[in-house]
Amino acid sequence: MLQHDNDARIICGESLGTMRGLATASFDALITDPPYCSGGTNTTDRTSRSAVQKYVSSDSASGRAMPDFPDNRDQRSFTIWSSIWMTEALRLVRPGGQALVFTDWRQLPAASDALQVAGWRWRGIVVWRKPAARPQPGFKNESEYILWASNGQIDRDHQPPYLPGVYTQSSPKGKDRQHITAKPPELMRHLVRTVPVGGRILDPFAGSGTTGVAALAEGRRFLGIEGVDAYAKIATQRIADQLGTAE
Ligand SMILES: C[S@@+](CC[C@H](N)C(=O)[O-])C[C@H]1O[C@@H](n2cnc3c(N)ncnc32)[C@H](O)[C@@H]1O
Repeated sequence: MLQHDNDARIICGESLGTMRGLATASFDALITDPPYCSGGTNTTDRTSRSAVQKYVSSDSASGRAMPDFPDNRDQRSFTIWSSIWMTEALRLVRPGGQALVFTDWRQLPAASDALQVAGWRWRGIVVWRKPAARPQPGFKNESEYILWASNGQIDRDHQPPYLPGVYTQSSPKGKDRQHITAKPPELMRHLVRTVPVGGRILDPFAGSGTTGVAALAEGRRFLGIEGVDAYAKIATQRIADQLGTAE
């Protein structure tokens, strides 16, 4: 049973600087949902609007004001910055460990380039399909993506589960939506199963802590880093709640 602070923890701080202080090869996996720096079809849209303006649509607003977060890098600086933090994450994940990194259609090329520049071995892509996506002229934009990569050869001792390549899950709504871009807990529970039971997961962009809640629910350990104080507090509370209930 996971029940200690050592099993799951949130650090409130800047992710790159915090990662630089962590021990080499001290994690089994990187599972994270970084800022996409997306939204809109041109640089002005992406860099001049806040995350709330870009990602909270009128039909998805829960009625609560949710804190904003930094999400305004232009394309070149997003790619360079991503390759820098992904390089640091590679140092922290043991050889044979894996990475799962969320992105969307606009940033898929930049994010996959950055991952490979950082030295990760890109292995594939998982589709997260959101059935409630709004219709629009042309094609419905109803999927986000999870880049799958490894630190060298995947650990042969670990028998990974056979998981689907496409998930259909709705984004959290109402009181279950604790973050502007919260990910579905059920989807995250599938992703953390790529890590051996008891393994340690790093999420350097923890938001409201959904990866950590899923990790604990599945018997994995977790360290999250979150830069926005309000979200770090929400994540810490959710993890404490989960530690109280995890078996
Ligand atoms: C896409 S959200 C993660 C949401 C999360 N998956 C959830 O379900 O709640 C990314 C998070 O990364 C945080 N962030 C962005 N840049 C950061 C940085 N340089 N250091 C620390 N946190 C950062 C943001 O504040 C934001 O909460």
